[in-house]
Amino acid sequence: MMDWSKLQSRAEKRAPLAQLFAQNPTRAEDYSLRHGDMLFDFSKTQIGAEDRAFLVSMAVDAGVEARRAEMFSGAKINETENRAVLHTALRNMDDGDLVVDGADIMEGVRETRGRMAEFAEAVRSGSHKGQGGKITDVVNIGIGGSDLGPAMAVLALAPYCDGPNVHFVSNVDGADITETLRGLDPATTLVIVASKTFTTIETMTNARTAQSWMGRVVKDTGAQFAALSTAEEKTAEFGISSARVFGFEDWVGGRYSLWGPIGLSIMIAIGAENFNAFLQGGYDMDCHFRDAPLDENMPVWLALTGIWNSQGCGHATRAVLPYDQRLTRLPAYFQQLEMESNGKSVAMDGTALDVNSGPVVWGEPGTNGQHAFYQLIHQGTRVIPCEFMVARHGHEPELAHQHELLVANCLAQSEALMVGRTLSQATEIMAKRGLTGAELDRQARHRVFPGDRPSTTLLYPLLTPFVLGQIIALYEHRVFVEGVMLGINSFDQWGVELGKELANALTPVLRGEATDAGKDSSTRLLLSYLRD
Ligand code: F6P
Repeated sequence: MMDWSKLQSRAEKRAPLAQLFAQNPTRAEDYSLRHGDMLFDFSKTQIGAEDRAFLVSMAVDAGVEARRAEMFSGAKINETENRAVLHTALRNMDDGDLVVDGADIMEGVRETRGRMAEFAEAVRSGSHKGQGGKITDVVNIGIGGSDLGPAMAVLALAPYCDGPNVHFVSNVDGADITETLRGLDPATTLVIVASKTFTTIETMTNARTAQSWMGRVVKDTGAQFAALSTAEEKTAEFGISSARVFGFEDWVGGRYSLWGPIGLSIMIAIGAENFNAFLQGGYDMDCHFRDAPLDENMPVWLALTGIWNSQGCGHATRAVLPYDQRLTRLPAYFQQLEMESNGKSVAMDGTALDVNSGPVVWGEPGTNGQHAFYQLIHQGTRVIPCEFMVARHGHEPELAHQHELLVANCLAQSEALMVGRTLSQATEIMAKRGLTGAELDRQARHRVFPGDRPSTTLLYPLLTPFVLGQIIALYEHRVFVEGVMLGINSFDQWGVELGKELANALTPVLRGEATDAGKDSSTRLLLSYLRD
């Protein structure tokens, strides 16, 4: 177990950002990393030179390097489920073997990738038809990792989407599927049931609703259904032909699964070649993460800023703020990635965690968030570390002036958070507006920005499939490093189980088929309102 008190006492004595920059004229260069065309700037965090060395030594002591090697090699590092963790194999682009449990897994990965590409191209070209002809719409039914990744990526890569329209249904709320299917033609729609386990109640319920919607018009619904799952026998029970079942293994966690079959809807939307570029981007970041020394390693530093802010300084949340409208779903995607992975209070060995688990992750794209919640980020009493990201270029060259505004806003926010505005500066501004005396003082105080608020900024050239792959892999590895340092298993998610069990038990009560005996009085009250 790590000695967190040393980190916390360092963090308590942290120097203000202004001082750190004043002491080191090359701080921006020293505290930023470049990988390929990406730039990650962490100079606006209150990490000093000694803290930096200390954080790296913490990563070494935690065994990050050894654990990283174990992950890539296929060792069973998901110890509570006795599974390897090999989402990296799904985007592995070398032509070597990877032996897990005595067998090479890469052959199967490449074969499935090839089958996916064949099917995706058949759907895109119209050679795989529905009853009504060429497939015009694809509906991906899944939830959590079987929805958020593809939904996020299809939106992010909209400029590359030249296939059928792809839609996503996740919520068991009938409103979701109703609104999605409204206006679609069942005879030209392909339904993809995406579920690692093929038992998730929301997904299976929506899949049956879609099946009956299609069955009202289409004779052979099976021909217009595909399945993405590790549970191939269950897909057969559902009536989906094995030709359209794309399987994967239990060494891919749900929230890490968009690189393989769960990414089929992305592939149909952008084509196999662009999907390949997406995988290449992930692989590129894997190679960097695997090979670069810790102090020059982008995912490691993204993790160390997280550890510093969260476990060191005690900041309970972090905001992910992409200045990229097409990354609207990225904060939600990172929410699952980070909070399902590192929201644990028990260490790998079963003992209680002696430090806070991973933080609350949230966010919205800029500039929208600026007109909503940034007020609190700038002047609230709690410090919220911010993770900004923005592209050098947009996909709309004819609107380059709008992209300049976007970029200026992104940079302005991290600058404002850092430099703030003192009372004397605010007083000077308000005095110029004609205020005097007590009113000047009162008004000036409302216009003070404390500043010295930490942020990081990730710059990338353009949101291409390759770059999106790099960004996602960057964050995946950050979560991994933070998890290793916390000593937890980032790859299970037992915390979602209790609610599922209780929901299953409550459904018959709501239907009047079981009593509410044994339920607490609050739940009984809520049930009685709903039943009446
Ligand atoms: O309930 C949590 C979870 O298991 C996630 O980890 C997963 O991404 C999601 O549900 C969906 O699971 P499945 O792909 O098995 O339907």
